[in-house]
Amino acid sequence: MSSSSHGPGFSIVEAAQAIRTSQRLVVLSGAGVSKESGIPTFRDAMDGLWAKYNPQQLATPGGFQRNPKLVWDWYSYRREMLSGVQPNPAHFAIAEMEQCLSHIVIITQNIDGLHQKAGSTDVIPVHGDIRLNKCFANCQGDPTYIDVEALTGWDPESGPPRCPHCGAYVRPAVVWFEEMLPHAAIERAFALTQAADVMLVVGTSGAVQPVASLPFMAQAQGAVIIEVNPEMTPITSIARWHLAGPAGEILPQVVAAMKSSSTHEGTMNAS
Ligand code: OAD
Repeated sequence: MSSSSHGPGFSIVEAAQAIRTSQRLVVLSGAGVSKESGIPTFRDAMDGLWAKYNPQQLATPGGFQRNPKLVWDWYSYRREMLSGVQPNPAHFAIAEMEQCLSHIVIITQNIDGLHQKAGSTDVIPVHGDIRLNKCFANCQGDPTYIDVEALTGWDPESGPPRCPHCGAYVRPAVVWFEEMLPHAAIERAFALTQAADVMLVVGTSGAVQPVASLPFMAQAQGAVIIEVNPEMTPITSIARWHLAGPAGEILPQVVAAMKSSSTHEGTMNAS
């Protein structure tokens, strides 16, 4: 990819054309799409969350059972960190694609809700949603969401509250290591991937299964893969275009190129 101050690079224009003419676009996003909102990624060597914190301790069912307060407090800290955070130009560009396309769905590994906040209407959060909580035992079915604001007699400083139905601890409604993804969400993600003709992969290292397999599955059944990431990843090898740069810079250029090519076509058709 190359871009210059004189206009978008050739790859961006080509990728924009592929997206604009797609019939079933799937966007697959990871932590990199939220980086420019100020949210650290997981595997960045300098400031990635897993460089500073131990995922075994903080993001596994066993870690929660060993020390529920530590895990609860860590998620409270992350919620606080996210409360003031806004979508960035990458989220808004993806949301804007809906104006040009009749069919677009976003499969996201992010739990921050920023795609939805930017205005995307069909988002599948396959790793859950940090804004929600559920019963650790899922006693009323999976998931058993619990509204902690409605609980009485619970001191947030004392660790996680108890489920009002069964007394198990309440935990954040996110997917941890060693856990299954929410069934309906991942089933839908697989089905959409099978049917996709273009998959736009933004800001993921492709390190975590089963989501990391989706671009390979899409490509195997004929979809064009477009990757937006400043770094190379395992997905780069199957990408028709690897648009190297921050998503907040690249994606607005892609949308501008989509709009400009549809305007030109409109003019030609009208004459
Ligand atoms: P990672 O931290 O593994 O990867 C983030 C990717 O974003 C890297 O490939 C970066 O090069 C890229 N990146 C960084 N800045 C970017 C920018 N401005 N624009 C575009 N890309 C950028 O995050 P994920 O792939 O999302 O799971 O990680 C997958 C899962 O691993 C997460 O959902 C989380 C984690 O453990 C759970 O917590 C279950």
